[in-house]
Amino acid sequence: MSRVTAIAPSNIAFVKYWGASDLERALPVNQSLSMTLSRCVTRTTVERLDGGEDTVLVRSSAGELLPASAAFTAGVERHLAALRHELEVEGAFRIATENTFPSSAGIASSASGFTALAIAVCGSLGIEPEPRDLSRLARASGSGSAARSVVGGYVVWPGDPEDSGSPMRQVATARHWELCDVVTVVDTTAKPVPSREGHRRAASSPYFSRRLEQLPGRLQAASQAVLDRDLARLGPIVETEAIDLHLIAMSSVPPIFYWRPQTLEVLERVWALRDEGVEVWATLDAGPNLHLICEPESEPTVVEAIGRLPGVRTLIRDRVGSGPARSEEHLF
Ligand code: PMV
Repeated sequence: MSRVTAIAPSNIAFVKYWGASDLERALPVNQSLSMTLSRCVTRTTVERLDGGEDTVLVRSSAGELLPASAAFTAGVERHLAALRHELEVEGAFRIATENTFPSSAGIASSASGFTALAIAVCGSLGIEPEPRDLSRLARASGSGSAARSVVGGYVVWPGDPEDSGSPMRQVATARHWELCDVVTVVDTTAKPVPSREGHRRAASSPYFSRRLEQLPGRLQAASQAVLDRDLARLGPIVETEAIDLHLIAMSSVPPIFYWRPQTLEVLERVWALRDEGVEVWATLDAGPNLHLICEPESEPTVVEAIGRLPGVRTLIRDRVGSGPARSEEHLF
């Protein structure tokens, strides 16, 4: 049996998906917009087996292939079950995977992981899905943000409840605008509440409906700012969106606090940098870590200033990327 390896990127949302209209089908209440990354990626190798059971291995930082934890395996098995259902196939798979970034720490490992898994499983079955089908397959087990990791550049996911496929739409390619994301890791422990539970609780926040009223205008303005390559217009939307997501989480019932003290320390330095004339804007997903969005000429200054902060553990210098790819560098 032949092996197929896929490399799929994470993405960072500029307009966030937070709150589901249908959690089972991973359909959001609102449209979202993200930038596909290029260095925060998952590599996954899949081989279709003649019989037996699925095997799930994770490559450690030391390069060894080890059996995945029960929780990780359960997530992969859920996705495999959804893929078998969608693709109408049976059979077992041997799977090995590795991330280039810490999992479950506010960097969307589910988006890159499920996209890579979907591409590699399809490949092992001789299927090459179109991006719109891949968008549906990538989020088939419930990670909505995976719907946007299937192409490069700047991507909208309409999440249309009338269309169960509801694929992503590319607003602009990576070449259109080279933006940087200085991924600022302050804490690598697993988040206290999974995003699925956050989506479920979102509507319990008294501020949720007010947020929803503002989102169509924000999405339109953010998409236009991307098309115009205008960071002075995009940045305030991106930062407001991140604070809004956390405001909703903190005011959900019961509340969810993803921020750590170091999160605020980094935010304050970002605001000070802007006062000093450096065009950099912060965003966060459902976790304590930050993504600092800037143009290439500001990146060295941002890296230097943020890297000095005592609470910062790791900086990943990421950029907009061109989407998933197949690779001949297999993990087994
Ligand atoms: O992909 P999910 O279902 O785990 O949802 C995560 C959503 C956020 O990352 C917090 C925001 C987004 O739009 O990516």
